[in-house]
Amino acid sequence: MTVDLLLGLQWGDEGKGKIVDVLTSKYDIIARFQGGPNAGHTLEFDGIKHVLRTIPSGIFHKNSINIIGNGVVIDPVVFQKELEGLEKFNMDLKSKLLISRKAHLILPTHRLLDAASEASKGKAKIGSTLKGIGPTYMDKTGRNGIRVGDIELTDFKERYRNLADKHEAMIAFYDIDLQYNLKEMEDEFFAAVEVLKTLKFIDSEEYLNNALKEGKSILAEGAQGSLLDIDFGTYPFVTSSNTTAAGACTGLGIAPNRVKEVFGIFKAYTTRVGSGPFPTELFDETGQTIARVGNEFGSVTGRARRCGWLDLVALKYAVQVNGVTELYMMKGDVLSGFDTLKVCTGYNYKGQIINHLPYNIEEENVTPVYVEKKGWKADLTGMTKYEELPVEMKEYVEFIESEVGVPIRIVSVGPDRTQTIVK
Ligand code: GDP
Ligand code: IMO
Ligand code: MG
Repeated sequence: MTVDLLLGLQWGDEGKGKIVDVLTSKYDIIARFQGGPNAGHTLEFDGIKHVLRTIPSGIFHKNSINIIGNGVVIDPVVFQKELEGLEKFNMDLKSKLLISRKAHLILPTHRLLDAASEASKGKAKIGSTLKGIGPTYMDKTGRNGIRVGDIELTDFKERYRNLADKHEAMIAFYDIDLQYNLKEMEDEFFAAVEVLKTLKFIDSEEYLNNALKEGKSILAEGAQGSLLDIDFGTYPFVTSSNTTAAGACTGLGIAPNRVKEVFGIFKAYTTRVGSGPFPTELFDETGQTIARVGNEFGSVTGRARRCGWLDLVALKYAVQVNGVTELYMMKGDVLSGFDTLKVCTGYNYKGQIINHLPYNIEEENVTPVYVEKKGWKADLTGMTKYEELPVEMKEYVEFIESEVGVPIRIVSVGPDRTQTIVK
């Protein structure tokens, strides 16, 4: 069998958790391939709202196997809390949730380094989630990291101490006033490592390739979004992993020719949390309305998300980099009520109209070029069929399809599992 990918095409929070949950019944295995507890994936069903951080969004389905791949970074402390949140669901996590031995561990000092780095940057800060993501991936590529498999080694504590001591020297180098009690953080960390050890560690690339040979189907769940990709995002205001399609191959050990469908998910408008350029950002009442109706507050940090119009230049770029075969449009319901909607179809780049993403998309270089579309007033949240949607919304959907050249297969009209229209 083959592997399908589900990827966020914007700056994250597109609704990946909801859609993975909706799609899980079609797959045997759901696998996360990058990112870590910087992610917050929300699912809603049967009146329950649940936010997942490191655990794949297929976990609530009875028969699904959920894998945390080698490309993921795990903070045992956050992970322990995530497991506690699942206790009331009474799942057999030992057989349902498998962890790659090659996944890297986020140490308490990685979190401190993240905070120190951000504080030292002042106004130029990335706006990171402060979960230690950047420093952990730095140690991975710098070949200093500690992996899940190392927990099973007799000298785990010694390896930990060596790296943490190095980190403490680095924190001192930043010369900022960072208050912390490392002893307390370490006690919490080692207790959480004991909890992590109760789960099954696997050689996940071997497991997944064997599963494929046995005819099993796999859905790879991305975290963040394409515009936060370390290579293709709005660098340096990005995360530290490859959030794009290629990241699924390196983050799971799956060959490119095993990938079949690439599902690209986007909001009917755009949001971004943290710093960095955002050409279609709205600073007016319209932006505030979208934020309020869309409840645009980070599921991890609670920070207000910046809101703006849909940017087709950026969307086409993400579709191209990922080889998207099907689009899923989320939060269409949030746009109900506007007389007109704007969609960015090009950029005025230093006096020239372009329709690709240039090296610099900062405000001083890029002004969005908009077309106006008729809005709709109807409440979409109870609709279940594409035909029921207002004609203006169908025109909005079909306009995007014709501009991007990829069909929109799902239109989401609310946070619940059931508020999902298949076109
Ligand atoms: P993820 O990180 O991509 O999984 O997305 P988040 O969970 O961080 O943010 C998406 C938010 O939008 C969550 O609060 C979801 O419950 C909610 N959501 C998802 N789809 C829809 C939708 O179609 N309409 C509305 N109104 N909310 C949605
Ligand atoms: P999900 O999976 C939205 C953003 C942060 C910051 C930048 C770097 O829920 O879509 P990091 O902590 O990764 O070093 O932060 O990336 N960011 C996200 N924004 N959704 C996410 O994940 C994000 N994960 C990181 O706000 O701008
Ligand atoms: Mg999120």
